[in-house]
Order: sequence, then C-alpha cells, then structure tokens
Amino acid sequence: MKVPFGDMKIHYQTYKAQIDTAVQRVLESGHYILGPELERFEKDFAEFLGAGYVAGCASGTEAIYLALAAADVGPGDEVLVVAHTAVPTISAISMTGATPVFVDIDADSYVMDVKKIEAKITSKTKVLCPVHLYGQVVDMDGIMKIAAAHRLTVLEDVAQGTGATYKGKTVGTIGDFGAFSFYPSKNLGAFGDGGAVSTKTKENFDRLVMLRNYGQSKRYHHDIIGINSRLDEMQAAILSAQIPFVHEWNERRREIAKRYTDGLKDVVVTPAENMDSTHVYHLYVIQSPDRDDLQAYLLDRGIQCLIHYPIPAHTQKAYSYLGYKPGDLPVTERLAKRILSLPMFPELTNEQIDQVIKSIRDFSAQPSTATTESKLEKATQSR
Ligand SMILES: Cc1ncc(COP(=O)(O)O)c(C=O)c1O
Repeated sequence: MKVPFGDMKIHYQTYKAQIDTAVQRVLESGHYILGPELERFEKDFAEFLGAGYVAGCASGTEAIYLALAAADVGPGDEVLVVAHTAVPTISAISMTGATPVFVDIDADSYVMDVKKIEAKITSKTKVLCPVHLYGQVVDMDGIMKIAAAHRLTVLEDVAQGTGATYKGKTVGTIGDFGAFSFYPSKNLGAFGDGGAVSTKTKENFDRLVMLRNYGQSKRYHHDIIGINSRLDEMQAAILSAQIPFVHEWNERRREIAKRYTDGLKDVVVTPAENMDSTHVYHLYVIQSPDRDDLQAYLLDRGIQCLIHYPIPAHTQKAYSYLGYKPGDLPVTERLAKRILSLPMFPELTNEQIDQVIKSIRDFSAQPSTATTESKLEKATQSR
C-alpha cells in the first residue's frame, strides 16, 4: 500500500457534491471576478474566525504583501520574522521594499522564540510577523506585549494555521492583520490559488480592498498604488462550501497526530504542542538525526515524506544580500537538517498511519543506521 503525502483527488471525491454545486453556480452566473461569491466568502470566513473583516486576495504571499502595504510598510522599515518558514513569507516582505530581520526559533515548538525578539528591535522595526508554522501557535501574549511596548504592527502569517486557536481566540484575529493561504493542500484549500487578510478595523479593510484592485476607490479613481490580487468567484464559492468542514478536518488532523505520536515517541522526536493553544497539524514533523536515510528508506517502501524546509531563508541565495552567515540562527539551522514531514491530510486512513509508524520503527531497529548521536538521543529522550 502506497502512502501519499497528500491526496487532493480523494478530497474532491469526498466533497464532490458540494464543490460541483459551487462551481456550477459560478459558471452559470456569468460573474467571475469581484462578485457575490467573494462577498459571501468574506462574510463567512470572518464569522468562522471571529474577525472584524476579511478581504480575499489571490494568494497567501500577496495576503502578506497587502497587509504590509496597508500598514504603510516600505523601504527603510524592518520586519521581524523567522527564517524557518516557507520562503514566500520573506518574499512578500521584500516585495514592499522593507528588510526582513530574522529571529531564531524555539527548539521545542519550532516557531518564533519570543525571548529572542527584543534583541533584534531597532528604531527601524515596524512590524512583528509571527508565523504559525505547521499549525503550531506562536506565544501570542508574548508577541502582543512586545508589540505594545514598542508600538509595532503585528501581522500573523496563518497560511498553515487556519482554525488554530490561542486562549480561545482563532489565530489571525489577535494581531492587527492575519494572512491566510488557500493553496489546495492547506487546512482550508481552494482548487487553485487563493488567500485572504483578516483585520479588526474597517479602515484597514477599505485599504486592503483598494490595494488588491489597482488601488481604486471606485472605477477609474486610483487613490493609492495597488496591484491585481483578487480571489476569483470560483475559488470563493469553493472555499465557502468547505468552511463548514474545517473544524472536523482539523479534529481529524489532531487525531492522526496523536496516533503518530503514540506510535513513534520512543523512537524519534515527535512534535510538542504550545501551551494555551490548539495545534492544527497542517504538517506533522518529526526530528531524526538520520533524516536523509530515513526519508530514502520510507520512499523505498512507498511512503512519501517531505522536508519543510531544508534551506532556511537566511541561507538562500536570493537573501544573501542581507549578510547573514551560517551559524547566525543556530536553532533554525540545526532543525533544518533533522526534520521530516510525514503524510498528513484528513482522509489519511488509520491503516496508512500504522504503516508509516511500522516503517519508521523498522528503520530505527536497524543496527547499522543508528548513529551514536541517535542512540544517545533515544536513551535520553523525555517525550
Ligand atoms: C507559512 C507560509 N506563508 C506563506 C505562504 C504563501 O502562500 P501561497 O502559496 O498561497 O502564496 C505559504 C505557502 O506555502 C506558507 O506555508
């Protein structure tokens, strides 16, 4: 039995009736851009999040860009962010002309280490951008406290965290802005590209709506410089049809995570969940000192695993101009060599999960592959 990393075909087959109805409605409407489906989605998603306002846009990358542009971020400004993220978080910052400044991550939760933020703040710092990577929630009390003390805007990158909560609030509604991606495999995914920005104020919402549509306040009146970044009617309708299932899917992701953790915690490092929050396991990521061998072993047995992410942003060629050197972000760099993402999607069966667990246990039992470091780690591992 093969175990894919994700399976959009099964997802479509399972929700075919809802998706086909939405698509058909749009096709027959004759209205494909900035119409009633987008309005409905923005209202439904704002309700789902408990957010003041939601503005749809064309991708998660542009959601981050639009939020920064709405906050007037530009050349000369600094945005504090992690290098352990999908590179688009960083490209969106660069698109504004601002400078990304990297804060290292916490070794247990793999997200921004709040204790390391203050040392990176300068007179140019304008935005704090926590990334809820893998569906793990950043310590938002810590973030909001620092932001208030230094008068910083908070932009949450929620691309991997749709539906996750912190002290009862849905993430993306705690900071000034939340940026979402609806890339197909995300916890709420479109059947193409899509994104959205949530915000508390009508003023921000109005700016976002102008920015995503060439800066127009009304047709042919361009009050600000904008771009074309619209969530089309087809994607909006498909997303609205799926919102009612997101909590159920996130629950299943948490169940899958628990099954993996119960089956693996004595042989590899399994994920820890941050306090006061609900992790929504967009990705289930283990650590192994023999990561590359383990990935090849699993692939050989038909199990597809990926690495999120093997090359941290500060060591990417595109960002060499920032002047970081290997060793500048030690926790990020060490983790990038050890992480492996296991198959994770709501339709994954218990048989598939058990096959992944068995294969990882078989790999760990091989005397030849266990390095001294991994043996030591196994002996001392506490969770
Ligand atoms: C953490 C994070 N931020 C931003 C993005 C960008 O989203 P999109 O692919 O929709 O542009 C992604 C998607 O890969 C992501 O995982």
